[in-house]
Amino acid sequence: MWGDRARSSLQGRRFGDVRWTAETGSTNSDLLELARGGAADGVVLVADHQRAGRGRMDRRWEAPAGSSLLVSILFRPDLEPDHLHLLTTALALAARHACQAVASVGVDLKWPNDLVVEGTGKVAGILAESVVTGDRVDAVVVGIGLNVNWPAEVPDEVAGIAVALNHLAGHEVDREDLLIAMLASLDGLCADLGTAGGRAALMTRYRDACATIGRRVRVELAHDERFVGRATQIDDDGRLVVETDVAGTSGQRLVAVGDVVHLRHT
Ligand code: BTN
Repeated sequence: MWGDRARSSLQGRRFGDVRWTAETGSTNSDLLELARGGAADGVVLVADHQRAGRGRMDRRWEAPAGSSLLVSILFRPDLEPDHLHLLTTALALAARHACQAVASVGVDLKWPNDLVVEGTGKVAGILAESVVTGDRVDAVVVGIGLNVNWPAEVPDEVAGIAVALNHLAGHEVDREDLLIAMLASLDGLCADLGTAGGRAALMTRYRDACATIGRRVRVELAHDERFVGRATQIDDDGRLVVETDVAGTSGQRLVAVGDVVHLRHT
């Protein structure tokens, strides 16, 4: 049964409570509901298929049934609100590690937390959502959609944008092996987030893995606002630092929420 190997490999560890279902609306929505009902830190929901998968910036997340790793993870974090973005960062790094360890596929991170192969496409995206009571964050649900074994013909709407691990590796990749490697790595990466040194170390790993730094980018914000510039850094709050070059003027913008497109090297 799907999930048995993950439960036995991760038994006794933080992300060992793996619940695998054939089909649902959205694993993030389901886990937010469980979180509101009191579910504990570390619950992991996996689905073979989502009827209403959700992406960042109110987009849909579509994947052919059984083709992807669709996972949400529940955190009851003992972290300051300013540090919560590190949970997403940790998952991005853990997924990147799993792609390399299980499929021998090297991927980069694209700010804020896409897994990409430059010039080829997006392999995975991450969506973090919170349960907030008053001014307190009770829970954070971080979900990832990782394209694993896609048919040769990808759906029209993502052709040229998305790519799957099997296309890159040249063979099928075991979704449960990927899940186990990702959750084991995530456990290690989250272990030191309570200390300043641990947080700084995670950000260093993220910056090293992030292909956006140093790139000329188009930044796409809510309400169709866009601008172009050079991404120079990611600050400790996870914001992208962009040196802008709009209409001959220059300046710096800090972007907390948005998308970037990597433009050609100049
Ligand atoms: C993105 O827009 O790049 C983020 C996509 C996140 C998709 C995952 S799939 C599992 C989890 N459940 C959802 O409904 N969304 C996330």
